[in-house]
Amino acid sequence: MAEEGLMEKIVSLCKRRGFVFQGSEIYGGLAGTWDYGHLGVALKKNIENLWWRFFVESRDDMYGLDSAILMNPKVWEASGHVQGFADPLVECSKCKHRFRADHLEDTTKCPECGGKLSEPRQFNMMFKTSVGSVDGSDTAVYLRPENAQGMFVNFKNIIDSYHPKLPFGIAQIGKTFRNEIAPRDFIFRVREFDLMEFEYFIEEKNWEERFEYWRGQMQEWFKKLGFGPEDIKEIEIPDGERAHYSKRTVDFHFNYPHKFDEIGGLAYRTDFDLNNHIAHSGTDLSYLDPNTNERTVPHVLEPTFGLGRHLLAVIVKAYTEDELGGEKRVYLKFPPHLAPVKAAIFPLLKNKPELVEKAREVYQNLKKEIPQIVWDDNGNIGKRYRRQDEIGTPWCVTVDFDTLGEKPELKDTVTLRDRDSGEQKRVQVSELSALLKSGITV
Ligand code: GAP
Repeated sequence: MAEEGLMEKIVSLCKRRGFVFQGSEIYGGLAGTWDYGHLGVALKKNIENLWWRFFVESRDDMYGLDSAILMNPKVWEASGHVQGFADPLVECSKCKHRFRADHLEDTTKCPECGGKLSEPRQFNMMFKTSVGSVDGSDTAVYLRPENAQGMFVNFKNIIDSYHPKLPFGIAQIGKTFRNEIAPRDFIFRVREFDLMEFEYFIEEKNWEERFEYWRGQMQEWFKKLGFGPEDIKEIEIPDGERAHYSKRTVDFHFNYPHKFDEIGGLAYRTDFDLNNHIAHSGTDLSYLDPNTNERTVPHVLEPTFGLGRHLLAVIVKAYTEDELGGEKRVYLKFPPHLAPVKAAIFPLLKNKPELVEKAREVYQNLKKEIPQIVWDDNGNIGKRYRRQDEIGTPWCVTVDFDTLGEKPELKDTVTLRDRDSGEQKRVQVSELSALLKSGITV
């Protein structure tokens, strides 16, 4: 059970330390939008780069894609999103607040003011916009509500360019838009978010075996983020509750402060999408088996992961309050490979030019090897430690008088402080890079 008030503490830390800000804050915000600051961007990139390495670059059967957000509107007719991508909406007759009926226990009474709620109606979640043309007639288009369709409409391009053999996958990380009825829980449910997903094309006869394989890979992925069995639950989605395209879905839920809730999912989309695109576009999207010379329409498994929900989960897991040296502190216990800052380099005193010069030299040499390090000379050492702890920096390196040779036997050594234990040890400057790299590598 997550601690009460934890989400508020996390929202506050994210703003205070520059991870995540409210979208359009100076104009009072825009519901369901959030902006990522320098540290939030760094953390997000660390997660998505790790995902790309794990699911794409470390494999021989995966092809990357970056498709356009705006697509021909026929795509969304073929995919079933125009007809079927809707949530049940109820509106309060008194305060006019809108709710998702499937998120309420009582769908007749407003949870905010007690007013009478309307009958549920289906509300399509796609954002509609238009593209102009020279003759003045606009065409209605949608901001994509999932990245998957980019992979389906490029299926033939991938086959023609790379000639992959089944099974193979097409992966993409990018923005997705959904007009959520009630955005909530910080960056958990938003209207604009990054999705990391791939379509894995298979022969129909293998789907159950391959479903289990990808389920196992997803479990491995969550371990890479430092999540244990207490953090992740798998939920089999029953008949009648799955997305319109899915014959089987297992959702992965993370233990968020508000409750266990979806962070990712694995769906068996059958040949639903490719067949619909064949019917609507008239393009042959079959696969020619080089062994049998037969043409078939492949089936598809789809592992999908919300990037913002991952970032929130990594912060929730890392958030720690303890006492160190008799003082209370808050810190983010990020696994070093995910930490947005790997190490902070300080001169012991900033008004001693010889210390600053040596510390700058250590910093600049190390930054060439490990770009995610920072220089910090603000305030006293204690304050710097607190600040770095709060943003989850695993190590702090201090250049002091011994580094300069005050004690000759300690010349060219620095103190290396560990975030979690607060312990410090002396290490050779020449060993720093290898030492930090070994801690960061997964
Ligand atoms: N292509 C499949 C697909 O889009 P989904 O379950 O609708 O499946 C995928 O969404 C993932 O996107 C979810 O597992 C979740 O992590 C994330 N997600 C969905 N809606 C979201 C929202 N409104 N805000 C943030 N993340 C969301």
